[in-house]
Amino acid sequence: MVQISPSILSADFSQLERDVSDVEAGGAHMLHIDVMDGHFVPNISFGACVISSLRPRTQLMFDVHLMISDPLTYIPSFAKAGADMITFHYESDSDAQKTIDAIRGLGLRVGMAVKPGTDISVLDPFLPQLDMALVMTVEPGFGGQKFMGQMMPKVEYLRSWVSANHSTLWIQVDGGIDAVTARTAAAAGADVLVAGSAVFGAVDRQDAIDSILQSAAAAQGQENKIAKQ
Ligand code: DX5
Ligand code: ZN
Repeated sequence: MVQISPSILSADFSQLERDVSDVEAGGAHMLHIDVMDGHFVPNISFGACVISSLRPRTQLMFDVHLMISDPLTYIPSFAKAGADMITFHYESDSDAQKTIDAIRGLGLRVGMAVKPGTDISVLDPFLPQLDMALVMTVEPGFGGQKFMGQMMPKVEYLRSWVSANHSTLWIQVDGGIDAVTARTAAAAGADVLVAGSAVFGAVDRQDAIDSILQSAAAAQGQENKIAKQ
């Protein structure tokens, strides 16, 4: 089954509780929370205090994507703020194994991300320890960019690894996902789709979520498996 993780980067920050409630009611499986430090990426978003304020306002799982240079230092504060899963970048300055251990040691799910220019095989030594691998389909830093279809071989590579190893690893794709590109990503083997502008920029967010999930399910030949409620 394909899951959707709407990115609050494209929400209205003055109405964050309302926007999060909208996607929760609209069928989101988790909430993608993009943390940017203005150093690892050329943009600053928000930090742990926003996450802790949101935590009591929703039941959604918090999928925290750290686009920061030194994730290891900040793992305890994001865990305390309410993260359920923390994804950090292979390209960050922190030691990957120590960062995985720190996240796991706090009882959270662990994800690792690669930027478009990074070979997916760098994740090989870590895959057995991860809950999720994130393939960026835009350069991290901003919402609303164009989906890079040329990243699909990375997704296919991960899907083959999952099959060969009978793994439960989630394969997440982040950047430029909408009802059209969701089909491409799901066909390649992605099972967690991040969508920011396509969901929060839509007039009807529930409809946007439905369209993305329907496309993804169609790509995987699972049209009939979507539970209608
Ligand atoms: C980009 C972020 C994404 C972003 C996706 O650096 O990691 O999560 O919010 O936004 P869209 O879906 O608009 O490309
Ligand atoms: Zn993200």
